[in-house]
Amino acid sequence: MSANLPLHPLERKLLSSLAEKTKLGEAVEFEKVQVYSELSADQLRRAIEWLKSKSLILVKEESVPLFSLGNEGMRVAKEGFPERRLVDLLKAKGGSGTFSEIFMAFGNESSVALGKAKENKWVSAVGHKISLTSPDIPKAAEELLVEKIGSSGSVSDSSFSPQERETLALLTKRYRGLVLSKVEKKQKLELTPEGRAYSSTAAVDELDALTPQVLQTGEWKTRPLRPIDVTSPAPKTFPGRRHPIRMFMDEVREAFVSLGFEEITGPIVQSALWNFDALFIPQQHPTREMQDTFYLSGLKSDLSNFRGEINPIKASHERGEGTGSLGWRYEWSEEEASRVVLRTHTTALTIRYLAEKKPEEARVFSIGRVFRNEKPNYKHNPEFYQIEGVTVGPQLNVRNLISIISKFYSKLGFDNIKFWPTYFPYTEPSLQTMVYLDKSQKWLELGGMGVFRPEVTIPLGVKNPVLAWGLGLDRLVMLRHDVKDIRELFGANLSWLRNLSVE
Ligand code: PHE
Repeated sequence: MSANLPLHPLERKLLSSLAEKTKLGEAVEFEKVQVYSELSADQLRRAIEWLKSKSLILVKEESVPLFSLGNEGMRVAKEGFPERRLVDLLKAKGGSGTFSEIFMAFGNESSVALGKAKENKWVSAVGHKISLTSPDIPKAAEELLVEKIGSSGSVSDSSFSPQERETLALLTKRYRGLVLSKVEKKQKLELTPEGRAYSSTAAVDELDALTPQVLQTGEWKTRPLRPIDVTSPAPKTFPGRRHPIRMFMDEVREAFVSLGFEEITGPIVQSALWNFDALFIPQQHPTREMQDTFYLSGLKSDLSNFRGEINPIKASHERGEGTGSLGWRYEWSEEEASRVVLRTHTTALTIRYLAEKKPEEARVFSIGRVFRNEKPNYKHNPEFYQIEGVTVGPQLNVRNLISIISKFYSKLGFDNIKFWPTYFPYTEPSLQTMVYLDKSQKWLELGGMGVFRPEVTIPLGVKNPVLAWGLGLDRLVMLRHDVKDIRELFGANLSWLRNLSVE
């Protein structure tokens, strides 16, 4: 322990008062230290924190039983025990009374009052007459104890004498609810040997601040300035910060941009045309049902701007015209396509982009919130985010897709991923990707992808192969921050948000 460890005046005050008032190894209660040191509770708390971190004091938590009067005890403290009231009654009657007089005054408490008064040898009975044994009956141990507890509100176990403890045991037996006990945690402080050694050297007459007076009087020349300990703990501040989801989105952007992609955006509210029909999802498909999709009731989308797309889409659904397939073989309804939905996937953005630009080559991505009518639970939320994208170009195939997606995940730090065949109405082949989690030794599903079918691209006038994907974002954020319940991400749990560590 360095002898010139800088100390704050509050620390010095606490150290010297502890050194003066306590013996080696003696721990004293916070309240007592407050009296000794003449510090306010707040100053004391600060000094304790500082000295604790310098190992100059020890802080111990002790459980102390505390006693206080219950309802019955308060009544007794106010009115007296029955035997005492009997003494008072007899005194008022000149030192004696008859049994029936006592019964009149005490009712069913009479036998307790008489019994106890006799046991204490306060009264004696001759025939029907009850007399005090002495004109002055001193207070009994029980009465003194009730007074002691009552006068200070609550008394700690340590302040009772052995006799008082015995009386307390008897009292608790005699009356239920007279005395209550509870265990309270008390802080006790103890000076460490270093603290004690240091307390004598601590009283250096240092200047705490360089004030105009100190400069004018030249005091600064003779008294040393107290060094400031820049390593001592300071209060935590919580400035505004970005939400972990937002931060992760930026990482995703960074990854795609570095792979040569451009970001596209688009509306959350879409017509069924873009969310479903343009993707060759048949109008009877179960995902279109109310249980899965949020429809905006009473709204119809005006599709007149998309006349050029509507007919080829209709033809593709009905007969697969120009796509080399037979289509779904049903009568496509424009009415159904004009229903308004909260987008169920960001693929609605991708497909609109393709319809509008008809690119021969492209690399675009989007990050957006999507909505599905699902019961919320720890891994499903009715709203979540998707990471969507497409690559368009001549001769692109599923190998290129696997390569792009692998590169993307590796940029985010996920190297162990695999691909699995799956089905989407709009891609062929279709894959899903999974990541291996070392920690839980499990495969986690991340999202879907594939090569858009000609039934999707031909009606929109896109000639080259389109590699497309839609990946989950929320689960990655959950992995990153070890969140077990997706709802936690969307709730405003301030303490979690404040204490998140981010690189
Ligand atoms: N839209 C699909 C989903 O929501 C993902 C996907 C996107 C699949 C693009 C294939 C192509 O899960």
